[in-house]
Amino acid sequence: MFRTKSVEQSIQDTEEPEHRLKKSLSALDLTVFGVGVVIGTGIFVLTGTIARDTAGPATALAFILAGVVCALAALCYAEFASTVPVAGSAYTFSYASMGELPAWIIGWDLVLELALGCAVVAVGWSGYVRSLMDSAGIALPQQLSGTHDGVFGFDLLAALLVLAITAVLVAGMKLSSRVTAVVVAIKVTVVLLVIIAGAFFIKGSNYSPFIPPSKAAEGGSGIHAPLVQLLFGFTPSNFGVMGIFAAAAVVFFAFIGFDIVATAAEETKLPQRDVPRGILGSLAICTLLYVLVSLVVTGMQHYTELTTDAPLADAFKAVGHPFWASLISFGAAVGLTTVCLILLMGQTRVFFAMSRDGLLPRFFSRVHPRFGTPYRSTLLLGLLVAVVAGFTSIDELAELVNIGTLFAFVLVAVGVVVLRRTRPDLPRGFRAPWVPVLPALSVLASLWLMLNLPAETWLRFAVWMALGVVVYFAYGRRNSRLGKTQGSQGL
Ligand code: ALA
Repeated sequence: MFRTKSVEQSIQDTEEPEHRLKKSLSALDLTVFGVGVVIGTGIFVLTGTIARDTAGPATALAFILAGVVCALAALCYAEFASTVPVAGSAYTFSYASMGELPAWIIGWDLVLELALGCAVVAVGWSGYVRSLMDSAGIALPQQLSGTHDGVFGFDLLAALLVLAITAVLVAGMKLSSRVTAVVVAIKVTVVLLVIIAGAFFIKGSNYSPFIPPSKAAEGGSGIHAPLVQLLFGFTPSNFGVMGIFAAAAVVFFAFIGFDIVATAAEETKLPQRDVPRGILGSLAICTLLYVLVSLVVTGMQHYTELTTDAPLADAFKAVGHPFWASLISFGAAVGLTTVCLILLMGQTRVFFAMSRDGLLPRFFSRVHPRFGTPYRSTLLLGLLVAVVAGFTSIDELAELVNIGTLFAFVLVAVGVVVLRRTRPDLPRGFRAPWVPVLPALSVLASLWLMLNLPAETWLRFAVWMALGVVVYFAYGRRNSRLGKTQGSQGL
């Protein structure tokens, strides 16, 4: 169960001369890529819901908190990625450091981050496309416009986007760095537009109160309340100081994706210097933009009036500028497409790695004879994600994505310390500072955010992970390639 796949073996498994990555990236390239993956549904959509229901104008503070938690995790990720530089992200790292069962758990958990993350971004994208269609006078029937305030509707556009992206991935089309650069430019321009143009419409009165007083949560059953409030016997409430923490646990979604940047450590020219610069640089830029956007949006409209589908564009509609609103919707729609693509691609690669190791049926790791892509796993995941995106509401999905990602952060931080102990000899392109204090802080910070997620999210997470353990014992443990080659020792 705790058999580990040696780091040398992980690297050997993928290392053929034509697969060796070129060390060509600079800190600037990493920063651009980081901004490209990270800015998405979090800022474009969740800001509205969170400001309206959980934190009011203090959403800006929530973004700062979430940014700090991510910065701690980012340094751990960077060390791990530069020590075990093979595809498969945290899954591969844990196979090398902690053993097969923890690796399986993290791989299973990454589904929550990547596949569900893709669904969340698709749902966010659909909100902005509908806002754009709305400006053009085209309206989709409510039944096809997604679930809102508990009223079910199938999210047709989100499902279609996921299917289109699946087709692109099966055909093996890659985002060239030029396309990425153009998309990043459009996205950042739109964000700056919101900040600069929106600043003229800020009304000071919208900021009072900046931290709305805490208010007992409706419903009362408690399952929707953050776990920490239930554990410590608070009456479940929104807003107030606890509201800022609860908001941070949700807007954390806006930062997801920088861990994917860490995996580019191997391709970086001077990883020790450029990886922290690239990752922390893109995190700092995003945090600054997020704080400004949330300040502007809550200044333009009173937080109680923000909308939840396309809040940034709708704030401009509300102050009588439909043209700016359309421009923002357009830019958001373009920008969100690539985020969705990168997340789904990341998911298919992790799934592929797990299947290649025999922990999932090897059937899925056959590559397409012509396109050379892992088409079977891509099709399976694409169809599932399309269904999930069509049927589930964005808030519940985003919370589940966050808990899964934060849990991966905890395991990665632990992995850094374990690997320093067990394999001090390994060359590390990048070493995190202040080990083990920094990883310990990262674990605590991530756990704290997890505790601020609703009890119901914990329940879903527990069910998903329990299912994963059952699948491992029913299938992976017996079919593991590593297990087969090592015979039965270690079990
Ligand atoms: N951070 C990305 C987003 O907000 C996943 O869409």
